[in-house]
Amino acid sequence: MPLIYPPSDFEDNRTLLKEFCERHNKFDQRIVLITSGGTTVPLEHNTVRFVDNFSAGTRGAASAEYFLEHEYNVIFMHRLKSLEPFTRHFNGQKFMDMLELNDRGPNTTITVKPDSVDVLAPILASYKAAQEGGRILYINFTSVSDYFWLLRAACECLAAYGPRALLYLAAAVSDFYVPSNQLPVHKLQSGAGVPNINLQLVPKLLAPLVSLWVPHAYVVSFKLETDESILIPKSRESLNKYKHKLVIGNMLQTRRSKVVFVTLDSSYELGLSREQMLNGMEIDDTIVSNVVLNHTDFLQNHKY
Ligand code: PMT
Repeated sequence: MPLIYPPSDFEDNRTLLKEFCERHNKFDQRIVLITSGGTTVPLEHNTVRFVDNFSAGTRGAASAEYFLEHEYNVIFMHRLKSLEPFTRHFNGQKFMDMLELNDRGPNTTITVKPDSVDVLAPILASYKAAQEGGRILYINFTSVSDYFWLLRAACECLAAYGPRALLYLAAAVSDFYVPSNQLPVHKLQSGAGVPNINLQLVPKLLAPLVSLWVPHAYVVSFKLETDESILIPKSRESLNKYKHKLVIGNMLQTRRSKVVFVTLDSSYELGLSREQMLNGMEIDDTIVSNVVLNHTDFLQNHKY
């Protein structure tokens, strides 16, 4: 792994993580680390080009809002510029279209259009409550190497929560990278011909995370596939290999409407009907409610 150098803001983020975890580690408070969005694989040290993936961070950003509703404190570790909780609802031009510019000149005021108040008000109220209570910490990464450093630093702080820590690993983490010593320093030149890029396997971070970093936490990973016939077998293979608690399987094409919860001895599907989707329901609401139930069950039966 290209782990030699931590990201430049690493120590600042480590301090933020430590403070956040210590501040909330009281009584029976629960905490969730959500990872969200894709990771990049740089093709040059001075990175102009990189390999990326499809993830927009919708799953992670939506889930963060639902975990806050369930009284979890949330570390939202996300890919820079991917979707974030609350603001995700107003992506693109949507926000501008909700506003009205009154007068122009020295007395200019801006108001929310009356028909948008009902949409904006509850989201703004939830955002303010989370901010004022200091219940959500935003940490961002870009490359797979940044992700690794931050994930490990977050786990160092979460270990003190024991089974009250929940890890919800929804980021689409790169499986391949170019080793640091094979990266050109400067931008690849097209004049030099077709580049020969030799990708190598990124070790699965789930392995040390489950066995060493947070051995008592409730760890949930996601499995993304495009071939439905291997979704459950691959999810179970992951559970057998890493020994964590739950894999949530989803298909690229249907990930907004259905998922499958896979444990060592069971699997069950959760889904939304067309009507529920048209009414604005989100599968992430259902996923989070079920994960919270499983985490509660785990806490009740947990023995050190
Ligand atoms: O962001 P959206 O557009 O809403 O999409 C959401 C999602 C489809 C990305 C999300 O629901 C999802 O499935 N995320 C996991 C995708 C993925 O990386 O699957 P995987 O099979 O490659 O990895 C399985 C698990 O191993 C993941 O939980 C990942 O955290 C972990 N992993 C992956 C690579 C790696 N080097 N180390 C890891 O530990």
